[in-house]
Amino acid sequence: MYAERVLSGMRPTGRLHLGHYHGVLKNWVKLQEEYPCLFFVADWHALTTNYDTPHIIEESVWEMLIDWLAAGVDPSQATLFIQSRVPEHAELHLLLSMMCPLGWLERVPTYKDQQEKLSSKDLSTYGFLGYPLLQSADILIYRADKVPVGEDQVPHVEITREVARRFNHLYGREPGFEDNAREAVKKLGSKRARLYLDLRTRFQQEGETAALEQAHALLEEAQNLNMGDRERLYGYLEGSSKMILVEPDALLTDAARMPGLDGAKMSKSYGNTIFLREDPDSVTKKIRTMQTDPARVRRTDPGDPEKCPVWQFHQIYSDQATCAWVQQGCRSAGIGCLECKQPVVDAVLKEQAVMRERAQPYVDDPSLVRNILADGCERARKLAQETMRDVREAMGLLYS
Ligand code: TRP
Ligand code: SF4
Repeated sequence: MYAERVLSGMRPTGRLHLGHYHGVLKNWVKLQEEYPCLFFVADWHALTTNYDTPHIIEESVWEMLIDWLAAGVDPSQATLFIQSRVPEHAELHLLLSMMCPLGWLERVPTYKDQQEKLSSKDLSTYGFLGYPLLQSADILIYRADKVPVGEDQVPHVEITREVARRFNHLYGREPGFEDNAREAVKKLGSKRARLYLDLRTRFQQEGETAALEQAHALLEEAQNLNMGDRERLYGYLEGSSKMILVEPDALLTDAARMPGLDGAKMSKSYGNTIFLREDPDSVTKKIRTMQTDPARVRRTDPGDPEKCPVWQFHQIYSDQATCAWVQQGCRSAGIGCLECKQPVVDAVLKEQAVMRERAQPYVDDPSLVRNILADGCERARKLAQETMRDVREAMGLLYS
């Protein structure tokens, strides 16, 4: 029930570029081999800022899914779905909104930042303020332990932890919890029970997180526990309430920061992108006209790779020998800039050829993508419904 689970979402706001690939998708592809992964299209999140242009979101959803598949996200390993097709996210968001203090949301740094950055839009909306709480619902509803995100999203995972803690504290309390928990410990069998209590002490008295993790593993393996006892034992490790919602951890990727064509961060709003599935001629042209070290006016002027965005591309795409060739050739004016760019052109085209090939069947037959989605949505929904059952029960909303 609490097997390590990875969850991440992406807002559908247009075609993906190499920045998304090197910064996010490559990491997803790696994670899907190591963990059960859920990756979803955060269409409701896109609506919080693009509520006035919903048709763009609709188009982007399918393009983005094809981009994911092109990058190697594998629907036979990971579960792919669309947020709005699992309406339980909205129900959990609503229930969490009852107990989430306004101050927590107002304090999230992206709230003010984005309002200032997107000042042409009216973002003093109810939905936009609630953005991080919706994200909390996305995460908590799958009891995800690990959430791969960029640095800017870490505060959202933090607030998710606080929300989970508050929820468990408010609704995980039951009369006689201590007694029930001690009874549940006995059900582990004497050897496991001793180990469990020992780990619990080590965590509570010494703050050893390794002990906590080991105890979680122990509970995962324990066969003869019902769900209520399991939640009690998870909660008993840390305090005096059942653990209904699981506190997630952010999984920060140390992905290379993908430079754009001008050396600044690659971003659609800077117009310095190469799209994931861009036409080869267009890619070639973009790289060939990329700016270089401004000091190299003539072919005979020596240059400095540190002042050139092409060098940043080499650092991502070229092997050591090629990098040495660039360093030496640039500083001695031994090579020309077009010559220097050619290995980058070749490497990007090679990377993209694989992606275009993977995407082709889905481009030819969009029903394939729809089937993958139908499948993923159904799987995700089952998991979400399990959690919602526990949440409703804890809040007294089962009426059975
Ligand atoms: N807010 C994230 C972003 O802008 C997208 C997102 C929505 C997300 N829900 C999530 C990411 C849940 C991780 C987990 O990138
Ligand atoms: Fe940049 Fe290469 Fe030209 Fe040097 S030779 S300025 S690294 S493109």
